[in-house]
Amino acid sequence: MKPVRVPDLRVMKERGEKIAVLTAYDYTMARLLDRAGVDIILVGDSVGMVVLGFDNTLPVTLDMMIHHTKAVSRGAKRALIVADMPFLTFQLGMEEAMRNAGRLIQEGGAAAVKIEGGGSHIVETANRLVDIGIPVMGHLGLTPQSVHQLGGFRPQGRDSEAAERLLKDADVLEKAGVFAIVLESIPAELAARVTSSLKVPTIGIGAGPECDGQVLVSYDMLGLSEGPVPPFAKQYTQLSEQIVSAARAYIEDIRRSTSEAGEAQGRAERERGSAASREARNLN
Ligand code: KIV
Repeated sequence: MKPVRVPDLRVMKERGEKIAVLTAYDYTMARLLDRAGVDIILVGDSVGMVVLGFDNTLPVTLDMMIHHTKAVSRGAKRALIVADMPFLTFQLGMEEAMRNAGRLIQEGGAAAVKIEGGGSHIVETANRLVDIGIPVMGHLGLTPQSVHQLGGFRPQGRDSEAAERLLKDADVLEKAGVFAIVLESIPAELAARVTSSLKVPTIGIGAGPECDGQVLVSYDMLGLSEGPVPPFAKQYTQLSEQIVSAARAYIEDIRRSTSEAGEAQGRAERERGSAASREARNLN
């Protein structure tokens, strides 16, 4: 079982082999997804929404990400582990970005980090991280850390100006040295154009079938998320229903066994009581 390394992904693109990516946030899920053969496990800051119950990813901190990345790296033996850099951990200065990315690698055990956005500041940061030996995955289109600026979790790149900007951002990110780019919620034709214009692989989520790989939030594809899931997130099973019915069966077992145990105990006490009164009568 050869572990997936950063350079393998470009080779996969060249060979036309699709890259399968899923998110994980804990040891058990990482172990299972790794066993299934996923190529990349993304410790996404979506952890804030699907595991920690926040409304968006903004409250997620670096310490939370390190905590979850550590658990995932204990579970995955083959998949490449990429950790998201959360909001405000890579925007406030180069030194801080380098230190924070370094902690995700050194303490968390990730092999690479992902940063959202494509402005000149982000490109420069990606470039500096790559310079010090930290592989970087880019993320364009719907970038959830900009949810307020975008006015919600809305599809992006729909008019020609936005599409051109995204193509340019992808090109500049590639030149800065990123090893892959996530394209989230953009039109399929635009994703196909970006994909064919780059040497590094694109990983799509709600960006059509032409990307070099696909990523989904594991809780969405496993049917574990509460409420509506994004329309592009195919659900391969309904684990939440299975969990609820298993928990109900357990609760019934406990209640039944408690009442059975209670009845048995009552019977034993009654038997002990009548034996004692028989004994007392015999003595008299
Ligand atoms: O945080 C995350 O899970 C992500 C994916 C949706 C790409 O960034």
